[in-house]
Amino acid sequence: MILFKQVEELRSHLEKERAKGSKIGFVPTMGALHKGHLSLIDRSVADTDITVCSIFVNPTQFNESADLKKYPRTPGKDISLLCEAGCQLLFMPHVEEIYPKNYQPKRTFDFGNLDKLMEGAKRPGHFQGMAQVVSRLLDIVDPDQLFMGQKDFQQATIVQSMLEQMESSTQLVVCPIVREEDGLAMSSRNVRLTKEQRRLAPNIYRTLKAARDKTSTRSPKQIEDEALRMLAIPGMEPEYFRVVNGKTLMPIDRFDEVGFAVACTAVRLGEIRLIDNIILKNKPSR
Ligand code: PAJ
Repeated sequence: MILFKQVEELRSHLEKERAKGSKIGFVPTMGALHKGHLSLIDRSVADTDITVCSIFVNPTQFNESADLKKYPRTPGKDISLLCEAGCQLLFMPHVEEIYPKNYQPKRTFDFGNLDKLMEGAKRPGHFQGMAQVVSRLLDIVDPDQLFMGQKDFQQATIVQSMLEQMESSTQLVVCPIVREEDGLAMSSRNVRLTKEQRRLAPNIYRTLKAARDKTSTRSPKQIEDEALRMLAIPGMEPEYFRVVNGKTLMPIDRFDEVGFAVACTAVRLGEIRLIDNIILKNKPSR
């Protein structure tokens, strides 16, 4: 694996690969890699000729400075995991490389409601910061395929909208959520859970599965209410549980209104915030 820290060096290496006809896959991350990230690398290695992974803890998408400061950083371990997984190129830039003093974002994006609901409402500015860094990274890597996780469902929906607004030829591939054996979605933040919080955390997936099992007998509103009750155990504080149209992220009244319905949730365990989701329906509507 080759490690790049400078934009121009990575760009000129990729230009040579592109000239050889290599298909380029890109997996952007913030590091502290786990099996969820590695599933994206595996998919890119399988589907493309050259896999580029980026590790960059993007300051502009953190709205709590404590969260940014405490974000886990494990570069040595990340490098060996990426080597083992067959990733060919790693981009690990310093912040000045991504946001040079004279850097002007190429464009602003209008995501309508997509960046205002759910995570957008709880984390003001988060998605604009995420979109800013992903568009900058795409501008550098210019991949054929971009691999992202369903774990961050709203993020993937917003990136799809961004690619459309950019009229980009990059194809977004959304990969399934990788979970621990007890159902907890893998996340870099899980290492910050106390033993007791870690014991409670599988309640999130249990609640999502219960919601999925009730789609033929309950309305979206009933499912949301029951889920919020199920999540509200001592030590766990649900922030939201929404049943939404998987394309527009807007709430739905009935399941037969839409072909694609997803339940999205965020909970707090002390100062740790975890998000998760499950697809409730993915069929043509009547
Ligand atoms: P990060 O949280 O490091 O996640 C990088 C990618 O890994 C995202 O596409 C995310 O959805 C995916 N991922 C995380 N946990 C996963 C899991 N359990 N199963 C499957 N995929 C999982 O998301 C970001 O970084 C940043 O916002 C980024 C896109 C890099 C921009 O800064």
